[in-house]
Amino acid sequence: MLINNDTIIKDDDSLIRQKSVDVALPLKEDERAVLMQMLKYVDDSTVEEIAEKENLRPAVGISAIQIGIPKKMTAIILKDAEGNKVCEYALVNPKIVSNSLEKAYLESGEGCLSVVEEHQGYIYRSARVKVKAYDALQDKDILIKADGYLAIVLQHELDHFKGILFYDHINKADPFYKDPDALVIE
Ligand code: NI
Repeated sequence: MLINNDTIIKDDDSLIRQKSVDVALPLKEDERAVLMQMLKYVDDSTVEEIAEKENLRPAVGISAIQIGIPKKMTAIILKDAEGNKVCEYALVNPKIVSNSLEKAYLESGEGCLSVVEEHQGYIYRSARVKVKAYDALQDKDILIKADGYLAIVLQHELDHFKGILFYDHINKADPFYKDPDALVIE
């Protein structure tokens, strides 16, 4: 399966709104292969030379529905300014098991491989989340305690399982409404 900016499902395709289903464990080899390809996409997408050559749009995460597979699988890689991996996950059936009441938002807004048009505004999410998942990289069940940027990314990716896109959360009447109690990220 070729994953690039041409093959990724965009929001003009109703498939992006389809709900994803749980994946049976142990993970089947073909499902693992797809998830590893998704991870490779994310990794390569932030390496300029590869991204240019292979038509990859930079991303920190991708969910299976974005390549047309309605299964609960998502790949996430965060890198520091030097391009070193800060964290890397190939998650199967990730589920939020607890979340803070405190909210947080990215000051620069969010983006998505499936969204071409710009949608400006703040997206309020939980400042902290705990996510249980099977991690295909470590081959075991894990509990991720996330805050800051990772917490936002996890919630964005898990929204894809419900067919929700980031801009669905933007306050239409007041896109840049500032919640004084929310944490600003970046
Ligand atoms: Ni997205």
